[in-house]
Amino acid sequence: MTLWGGRFTQSLDSLAWALNASLPVDQRMAIQDVEGSIAWASALHKANILSDEEHASISLGLATVKEEFASGQFSFAPTDEDIHTAVERRLTELIDITAGKLHTGRSRNDQVATDFRLWMLQAIPELLSALSLLQTALVEQAELAGETLMPGYTHLQRAQPILLAHWWLSHYHPLQRDRERLTDLIKRVSILPLGSGALAGTPVPVDRAALAKSLGFAVASPNSLDSVSDRDFAAEFLFCATMTGIHLSKLSEQIVLYTSAEFGFFELSDAFSTGSSLMPQKKNPDVFELTRGKAGTLIGMLTGLLATLKGLPSTYDKDLQEDKAPVFAATDTLLAILPVIAGALRTITVKPERMRNAIDSFMMATDLADYLVSKGIPFRETHAIAGKAVRAAMDASRNVGLEELSLEAYQALSPAFEADVYQVFDPLKSVEKRNAIGGTSLQSVKNQITKCRENLQA
Ligand code: ARG
Repeated sequence: MTLWGGRFTQSLDSLAWALNASLPVDQRMAIQDVEGSIAWASALHKANILSDEEHASISLGLATVKEEFASGQFSFAPTDEDIHTAVERRLTELIDITAGKLHTGRSRNDQVATDFRLWMLQAIPELLSALSLLQTALVEQAELAGETLMPGYTHLQRAQPILLAHWWLSHYHPLQRDRERLTDLIKRVSILPLGSGALAGTPVPVDRAALAKSLGFAVASPNSLDSVSDRDFAAEFLFCATMTGIHLSKLSEQIVLYTSAEFGFFELSDAFSTGSSLMPQKKNPDVFELTRGKAGTLIGMLTGLLATLKGLPSTYDKDLQEDKAPVFAATDTLLAILPVIAGALRTITVKPERMRNAIDSFMMATDLADYLVSKGIPFRETHAIAGKAVRAAMDASRNVGLEELSLEAYQALSPAFEADVYQVFDPLKSVEKRNAIGGTSLQSVKNQITKCRENLQA
């Protein structure tokens, strides 16, 4: 049975039928579809479209259908074009002809948009908790890191020493923004399309505000034409998911790099690394590489939906059926990745001595310039003098670190240099000077941790 056979004399070509059918994708919204129908039946009852008996019969039937879905007992028929058809078909089996009254004043256009939004309203909290789980792992690592120092990079070149804790937290904050973005999205998802009809609105005198409330939506959509075609929420959701994917990809890239023998800053636990079928010595960071790779797939999902939406005429067009697969896939992707990354980070081994050894005195060249600033010389000049010191130390005839350059050599560059200049090359001192909000000093990072913890509890 289709929901629309009346004006046709021929049945749909079987290949065209397969192309048109959306059940394989939209059956994930089964519970939402039934819940939407239960609420719609109540609205029809309140509007005197359904009698008490009819309403009772439909409600009971739908409760049975819902139970069948929840317990995995529901069986689909080959004629179920989509989830809406499947539910109505089953309801008809259960309560016969009365089932046919349920679709009064409703279209699959407002129905599917309602189901989809309801589905997303339950998916977002799941994602939020998976994100906070990973954030918690990052904060815990930051707390464990204590005073551990590591090289900070720009352009992937050694730049300045930083606290490992500061680095861990640099991956916390992007996820915090992701959570804020997703949370903010809820208000744009929480708008009820049901009661918009196919496009022009429903002739049934339903109280849409009450209907919205009964389904847990904040408000009813204000324009039926917009309402059946609005998929901004799906695109935004995919943007949020993609942005998270990109954040995870950035983190993953660094873990891949830092677990290489060349860096050796971290070692993955066996539980989160994989071997090679050929090279017995290999320990590969596959989960991070997959995460990095899946960020690319997520970008494809976002751009795919945007391309689908581009240029569509107003109201419902069947192109919109393409909206759900990427949203479901993006959700599945993130829910698969996030706990694994959290587990891998929780169990990672830090190699503080490798990090410390990768900090050379040239990374304190800025501090050297700042030292002369403290002696009253303008920074632009001190930058040049420190640069000359770098050149003198690196000079082939010397080839030493900045801390090994003699005081005479320093004084030849500027008479302002004194014996205390060598204190500049202590990386912890360098870190401690960066004490303003957001800097890498111990105190500043401690404050950050406190705030991060507060955010996680909020
Ligand atoms: N399967 C459709 C979708 O996902 C449901 C809406 C169908 N509407 C219609 N007029 N054929 O978009």
